[in-house]
Formats: sequence, C-alpha cells, structure tokens
Amino acid sequence: MYNSKIIGLGKYLPENVVTNDDLSKMMDTNDAWIQERTGIKERRWIKEGTEDTSAVMGAKASRMAIERSGLSKDDIDFIVFATMTPDYYFPGCGVQLQDMLDMKNVGAIDIRNQCSGFVYAISVADQFIKTGMYKNILVVGAEYHSNGLDKSTRGRGVTVIFGDGAGACILTREEDDKRGILSTHLHSEGKYADKLIVESPSIRHWVPEILEAGEEDTSYFPYMDGTFVFKHAVVRFSEVIIEGLMKNGIQKEAIDMLIPHQANLRIAQFIQKKFALRDDQVFNNIMKYGNTTAASVIIALTEAWEEGKIKEGDTIVLAAFGSGFTWGSVIIKW
Ligand code: UT7
Repeated sequence: MYNSKIIGLGKYLPENVVTNDDLSKMMDTNDAWIQERTGIKERRWIKEGTEDTSAVMGAKASRMAIERSGLSKDDIDFIVFATMTPDYYFPGCGVQLQDMLDMKNVGAIDIRNQCSGFVYAISVADQFIKTGMYKNILVVGAEYHSNGLDKSTRGRGVTVIFGDGAGACILTREEDDKRGILSTHLHSEGKYADKLIVESPSIRHWVPEILEAGEEDTSYFPYMDGTFVFKHAVVRFSEVIIEGLMKNGIQKEAIDMLIPHQANLRIAQFIQKKFALRDDQVFNNIMKYGNTTAASVIIALTEAWEEGKIKEGDTIVLAAFGSGFTWGSVIIKW
C-alpha cells in the first residue's frame, strides 16, 4: 500500500467579473442582501463568445498544475474530472480533457457529486494510487454554471451564488505512509436529492416535454431549498471533519488550514466558530468567486498554496457538502 500526495496545483478563472451591482441590473436583488447572506462580493461568469467551458477551463487549470508538478503530460496515468456542469450529457469532460491536453490514451472518469465532487475525486484518485495501479493522476474540478442559471428575479435565490471556474492538481505516489493524503471520508443521503437539483433535461423529463410546457417549466434551472440545505450543511460539515480528525488522532487545534467548500461564508464562519479556529486556520475566497461547486475546494487550495499559507508538514483539512446530499473530508499531511 502506498500513500498519495499533491505535487502540482493549478487554477483558471474566467476574466469576466460580475459584481452584485451587475446582478441587481438583471434581477431584483442588491449588494447588501447578497453580502449579508452569503459573503459574496463578485463572481466570474464566462463571457458569451469565449471558448471557455467546463472542459476547456479544466484543461487550462490542468496545464498549470502539470507544469508546477515538474512532470510532463505523458507521465500522467489517469484522469479524474469532477463537474456537475459537463459540456455534454455524454461523453464526460474527462475524455475531452485527454484530447485537449493531447495526452496518451489513459483512462478518464467523470465524478458527478456536485459540491462534494472534488473531495470525491481526490478520494477516488487516492485509492488508485494506494493499490499501486497508477502512479500519477490528474484530478480536476471545473464548473460552467452561468449559462444554465435563471437570470430573472425568479432565480435570484440560487443564481447570485454560483460562479464559474476550474482547479486541478497532480496526485502522485508517496512511499511515506505518514505523509500526503492520510484519509478520505465520503457520505451520501439520497432522500434529499430534490432539495438541490437540476431536474431536466433528463431521461425522465426530456426536451419535447420542456418545450411543450413553455415558460411554466423551470425544471432545467437549479432549484435549491436554501434554508434546508444550510441546516444540513453545518451539521454534516462538522461531523465529517470530526470523523477525519478522529481517524488520524488529530486534535482540532492542530489543524493548520481548513479549506471548506465555498458554499456560503456564513457556513464557513459557523464551522470556524464551532471548532474554535483562528482566521489564519481557515481559507475562504467565496467573496471573489462565489460558489464554484466541484471546483471550489481545489481553487481555494491552489490559492492558499500560492499565497504561501500552506507549508511542508502542515495538517490540511478539506471538507465539502452539497447536492445529493453528498459530503466528505480529506485529511492531508502536506
Ligand atoms: O454548495 C452546495 C450547498 N449549498 C449551500 O450550502 C447553500 C445553503 N443555503 C444558503 O446559503 C442560503 O439559504 C441562501 C444564501 C441560499 C439563502 O439565504 P437565506 O437566508 O436562507 O434566505 P431565504 O432563502 O430564506 O430568503 C429570505 C428572503 C426571501 O424573501 P421573503 O420571502 O422573506 O420576503 C427571499 O425571497 O430573501 C429573498 N431573497 C432575496 N432577496 C434579494 C432570496 N434571494 C434573494 C436575492 N436578493 N438574491
């Protein structure tokens, strides 16, 4: 059995900044409401007419991660791509990435676990490395939400939250079992699937039915019961962080950096308070990027590293919760 460790981090955010004031010109919302309830000041939305999509942004973040890892694309043995906004219904973004990066014919899978997508993706990659099947794996989280949001007042409860972006990392074999990814913890509770969902187009509700229903049918826009999701998020975040710490015999005081999925600054602050962590022990960037779902944890991890906030030997905790419901954590000795 091997461990795995992260050796290269990359990110890509579309240039186009959309402020809360910009949104208030599209729908009945305002900067004060958005900042007070979510902490978000602005987000990036892909500008119409540019080449960016989830796969394209994933490829851009991947190039940076590969370059920073010191490896070549030909050293990569496998691709794990997390997204809830794939370019196509099928095939997945992973295979597009293989082509865009002109990689060897390595395997590629897509992970469909929404806001927990990156945590699930890194866990899947970790297992392949642990067994010895693969040595270097490219793990990506990328989301293109802005083209699928209801930009009228009807959609304001969800639309103001989501942002576009991508992050990527290279996971490689680590011989020392006390370093790298120490453990991953994954959970789901499918009975709440309808609390945060994009229902269609789906095989259950296909395009002709949507067209027939006309304006009335909003099932192709994300729906969220925000208060319900919020209440479950704070409980599950806490549980799964504790689970990870207990598994490794780590006290909460020993956390050097907690990187929570950037769902809502209020959720992150609640967790920070519950675990009595200082500001420098929690990394947040939702203010700039909104909620980029499967991309959020890896964008935040990349940015924390770029800002010199992650050092060798640090204990890092990644945690996420989202649609499914799904949630999970990753404990890392950097
Ligand atoms: O990433 C996956 C996991 N996702 C989450 O964890 C998100 C969890 N939920 C949340 O972050 C919060 O529930 C939201 C930020 C989505 C919403 O905040 P809230 O405090 O739960 O607000 P609410 O949905 O209860 O709405 C309160 C009021 C409503 O008006 P009335 O009925 O009180 O008159 C809404 O219509 O705020 C109104 N509202 C808005 N007003 C201005 C909803 N969205 C907006 C908006 N601008 N964008």
